[in-house]
Amino acid sequence: MAHTAPTHEANVAETSLAAGMSGGWLWHMRAWRAQNRWAATTQQIARWLAGVTPGSTELLLIGASGGWMMSSAWLQRFRCVRAFDLDRWAAPVFRHRHDAALQQSRTVLSYQQLDAVQHLPQLLHSYPQAFVLFDNVLGQMRFVHRSLDAAQTQLHSISRMLRGREWASVHDAYSGQKDVALPGQLPIGPLLTVSPRARAAAEPQFSVAERRWCAQLGVRGAWLDHLTAGIFPAGTPVQHIAWPFSSAYQHWLQAGWVRP
Ligand SMILES: C[S@@+](CC[C@H](N)C(=O)[O-])C[C@H]1O[C@@H](n2cnc3c(N)ncnc32)[C@H](O)[C@@H]1O
Repeated sequence: MAHTAPTHEANVAETSLAAGMSGGWLWHMRAWRAQNRWAATTQQIARWLAGVTPGSTELLLIGASGGWMMSSAWLQRFRCVRAFDLDRWAAPVFRHRHDAALQQSRTVLSYQQLDAVQHLPQLLHSYPQAFVLFDNVLGQMRFVHRSLDAAQTQLHSISRMLRGREWASVHDAYSGQKDVALPGQLPIGPLLTVSPRARAAAEPQFSVAERRWCAQLGVRGAWLDHLTAGIFPAGTPVQHIAWPFSSAYQHWLQAGWVRP
């Protein structure tokens, strides 16, 4: 089943994937070593972020980690950045990477070790004017729940909580084993709008453009579904981005900016 559209089933070693994605020193070491491989993805995210121009000058950055793939230039547009991560190693790494730029723009940074997904209602209540960016975290929710149903329920509830709010997310949509025979050049993904039909479907549905994009990502065999298909409301423009996570494993990121 080479280069087919993703199915709803997982068929990879999820636990090792989760271990490498969920923060901690292993994540930082992996990110540090992978900077060259991830550079084109980071640039594509920065290009997408440059077009995200929210009204608020206050940012809630959820799953900020060390900001390995975050654009300092984009952070500089905010007066105040409140970053959150579960990982206790994340704040010093983030500061090391972004402090100089933030000082230049006089952006005030606070960084809290917190389960920001669990505390999302309180955060939204405490900072009613803040723009919210989920920074590559929502695609990991399937790893923190015992069942896929529980993960999906949480993702739906996050989506509901954000109604009426200006927010954005970059997250894993799918991932899978890479066909190492493909050339290393990172393909440029399409910008596609979430259709009401795809949004309402119980199982992921793929347009012709998305199927074409799947084929370019060069995944061999089954894809892992990160359960994020229903996150963005219908009508949201979504940028599709390839992320060569390792030499053998490819991620399909989706980035969307939701405006009420
Ligand atoms: C893939 S990494 C994010 C990478 C980051 N955006 C960067 O550019 O370096 C996912 C991060 O989400 C964090 N995370 C996962 N669940 C979380 C939660 N409930 N609250 C806060 N952070 C969480 C993990 O600790 C991890 O650092």
